[in-house]
Amino acid sequence: LSSTEVDLEGIEIGSEITTVWQGKPVFVRHRTEGEIEKADDVVVADLPDPEPDADRVIKPEWLIMVGICTHLGCVPLKEQGDYSGWFCPCHGSHYDTSGRIRKGPAPKNLVIPPYEFLDDTNIKIG
Ligand code: FES
Repeated sequence: LSSTEVDLEGIEIGSEITTVWQGKPVFVRHRTEGEIEKADDVVVADLPDPEPDADRVIKPEWLIMVGICTHLGCVPLKEQGDYSGWFCPCHGSHYDTSGRIRKGPAPKNLVIPPYEFLDDTNIKIG
């Protein structure tokens, strides 16, 4: 399948699911207010891969990204690391609550796949 539909209903605030799109894990996270604030509260120019949080989401409460570390392709673990986002245990890359690389060997932010909202609670990835 070239696209994957996800029903967001039932993904509670502060939790996430992992779906599969084109054979890759995709994290679908329902962010808390605190996570969104943290993601906004950075000096974008100082980031290793400068990208404002607003450019990485359609709706701030939903963060959708490919769950593959941009270093060598491990799957990062949620709610871990120095920035309370994702942590890749393979070689120690820390991602923030926007999935941006903050520390460690990964060169790039976690990738945002193409997706759209079909209605309030359904998205189509791809
Ligand atoms: Fe994630 Fe190396 S594969 S840090």
